[in-house]
Amino acid sequence: MKVLVIGNGGREHALAWKLRQSSRVSQVFIAPGNAGTAEEGENINIQANDIAGLIKFAQNNQIGLTVVGPEGPLVDGVVDAFQAAKLRVFGPSRAAAQLEGSKIFCKEMLRHADVPSADFHVFKNPETAQRFILDRYPSEDETVPVVVKADGLAAGKGVIVCNRRRDALDAIDRIARKREFGDAGKQFIIEDRLDGQEASILAFTDGRTIVMLPPAQDHKRAHDGDTGPNTGGMGAYCPAPVVDDRMMGWIEEHILVPTVHAMKRSRQPFKGVLYAGIMLTNQGPKVLEYNVRLGDPECQPLLMRLKTDIVDLIEATIDGRLEELGQLQWDPRHAVCVVMASEGYPGSYEKGRIIRGLNEAAAIPDVKVFHAGTDIVNGNVVNTGGRVLGVTALGNTLSAAKLQAYTAVKCIRWPGAWCRKDISDKALLPPKEDVRRDKPRR
Ligand code: AMP
Ligand code: GLY
Repeated sequence: MKVLVIGNGGREHALAWKLRQSSRVSQVFIAPGNAGTAEEGENINIQANDIAGLIKFAQNNQIGLTVVGPEGPLVDGVVDAFQAAKLRVFGPSRAAAQLEGSKIFCKEMLRHADVPSADFHVFKNPETAQRFILDRYPSEDETVPVVVKADGLAAGKGVIVCNRRRDALDAIDRIARKREFGDAGKQFIIEDRLDGQEASILAFTDGRTIVMLPPAQDHKRAHDGDTGPNTGGMGAYCPAPVVDDRMMGWIEEHILVPTVHAMKRSRQPFKGVLYAGIMLTNQGPKVLEYNVRLGDPECQPLLMRLKTDIVDLIEATIDGRLEELGQLQWDPRHAVCVVMASEGYPGSYEKGRIIRGLNEAAAIPDVKVFHAGTDIVNGNVVNTGGRVLGVTALGNTLSAAKLQAYTAVKCIRWPGAWCRKDISDKALLPPKEDVRRDKPRR
């Protein structure tokens, strides 16, 4: 079977790499792909948002399965369009993708399904929202623990975590008056700020059955010790011991099951990968957000460890047969992914710098270098994006995996290349307080 992967990041390189290993796959195409995906299959010069172009390509090339990487095309209805053209495609429908496409939709669904999440208020008008903040926090000096979020997709940037009153007033101004995130800021929410460690809990679901993946952790801040500006994610590892088996069971029962049921009841069944961004608070795990696709960079360590044929997993999800699939098989080792980024990221950065040492890094055992913002220019691999590579390694212990990943990182160089040095160190933090035991079971 010929397979098409839509997207051009590290997640899509990992997907193409994994799909290629399936005995059922004869050829992998990636639209538009990057320098790394070109080694797993054939890059096609069609952008991820060109739905008509993608359908035409799939029809003309007998594509048996299309796997959608990023959220943009999902929210735009790529899955509905492929299905209307009688093409087999993996991902949620446009209606179900609203879980990520509209934070208001997501929060209202969570409230309705009684899933633990921060309290929130919806606004359209910046004056009303600022009045709300001033009424609730009359003193300028008190802590204002709120988060202001643009409703729509904003490439991970439409969320502003506040501490002081002026931060909140300024966030409202940026989202709703200055429209820094465009139409995503037409509506917005103000929600309570939660504190704790974050975990990424991903699951495949066919709309009824849920197959949980092992817990992972991302590193969203640019600098070591979780400081500096937010990024798309500077590294990830899996499994994350901060979520033990008992807590995974709790999260499945109290978060994923009610969500999947609520979506089904509202006739918008969710089929695909559901990714819960969870905050492990003192009152137990709470949902920060849902994503409707694999996480990037969580996908890289997860797929490094997955031993089950990914085509079987994807097809069982599409066909509503997850119940019959049986347990997923995992490499028992730990996986760590270190993102190497361009100088200046997450701000502006220079492109076109030649990347050297990729072959040396690839020669290190149990290492895979996944590409994100790369391209081939005059036969050289160059950087084209902020997040450039996801250097991923397996190890018998987490520290062995970390060491192996950083050994590979040291081989790779280009002017301005940098990475965080502490990916996976969070696993060594003291455990958080346990989850609530007194909550009634459903
Ligand atoms: P999102 O774009 O919704 O994924 O949010 C991005 C990041 O903002 C999350 O990974 C958290 O670090 C942070 N965040 C979102 N909501 C909250 C909240 N209610 N409290 C604290 N941090 C939050
Ligand atoms: N790792 C965060 C995301 O994929 O949105």
